[in-house]
Amino acid sequence: EKGEHRHFMSKEVHEQPEVLSYALQHYAGPGRDRIEGAADAVDFTGTDRLIMVACGTAFYACQVAKYWFEQIAGMVVEIDIASEFRYRNPPLRDSDMALFVSQSGETADTLAALNYCKGKAGSIVSVVNAMESSIARASDAALPIHAGVEVGVASTKAFSCQLTVLLSLAIHAGRTRGHLSAADEAQLVSRMFELPRLMNEAIATEPQIAKLAQWLAGARDILFLGRGLMYPMALEGALKLKEISYIHAEGYASGELKHGPIALIDENVPVIVFAPRDALFEKLVSNMQEVMARGGRVLLVTDAEGAEIARHGTAEVLVMPTVDPRLAPMVYAIPAQLIAYHTAVTKGTDVDQPRNLAKSVTVE
Ligand code: F6R
Repeated sequence: EKGEHRHFMSKEVHEQPEVLSYALQHYAGPGRDRIEGAADAVDFTGTDRLIMVACGTAFYACQVAKYWFEQIAGMVVEIDIASEFRYRNPPLRDSDMALFVSQSGETADTLAALNYCKGKAGSIVSVVNAMESSIARASDAALPIHAGVEVGVASTKAFSCQLTVLLSLAIHAGRTRGHLSAADEAQLVSRMFELPRLMNEAIATEPQIAKLAQWLAGARDILFLGRGLMYPMALEGALKLKEISYIHAEGYASGELKHGPIALIDENVPVIVFAPRDALFEKLVSNMQEVMARGGRVLLVTDAEGAEIARHGTAEVLVMPTVDPRLAPMVYAIPAQLIAYHTAVTKGTDVDQPRNLAKSVTVE
């Protein structure tokens, strides 16, 4: 039931700190200093290459996780959307691990991609919400995200729980492959336990987001920009917005701007920039300044330090809590979701049942 919330999507966005903390309990030890439990079901030691395949929002979770597996576990990672992967006949080896991410566990293209990998990849792992699903049953190991039932068609809490499980797996891979020290693991895991509090702080910006939605709801096109881990978050922000508010939106890696999309910029196209103060912050800010120099109106989503440095010339600034840059996707998922939600509510669209969309895509 929706309880005090007007829509399931709102309820599910607000539930995230709680479900993420619940998911974490299944993947971290009681000392909150190491990954153990559910992740132990997967052995990364004999794997040369990790191939992650999914659709939609679950694919963006894979795109975030690619950075984590590369950086935390030093692994070679490929990612692909299931509808492309399944028809490409990609060569696979016994030393490959194929990993599928799906909330429903019933997505036709993802299941077909999994079946293609059977007998070709060394092992088949899935990260799912529905443990009774076809994808879970067809896998050598199925790992639950523990998000609880997700009713809103737009995926929200499943996404942040997918991220939590994928990060746990990357940490587990890092340790077992000798790429991550116990001290670094302890630091990272203890910071994961701070995420519920930080996500609540992000949710506390909701009244400001609801006001901003008045501006955004009048736009025909909106751009989302990010770099590094914030690039897939820009894609996710754009997907959420288009699916529930029907506003055309694009996510871009900000370094790609000058290779084409900057031609779109004028005062009518709001540009939303996800910019935590990480190693790529300066580069992102200089891309943002190029946008503003062409009359673009920017909504800067950053932390207090980033706001201090870069707010000049922006139209609006949304201040997120300061977070370890490696964990920023879970925090920045909140504004990505709430921007879409409030823009849709302002426009009066059907948030939980957007036109043309189904919660579970069992046909290709
Ligand atoms: C977006 C959304 C979809 C799903 C996609 C995959 O908000 O919900 O893009 O993420 O259809 O679905 P699952 O995860 O069930 O395989």
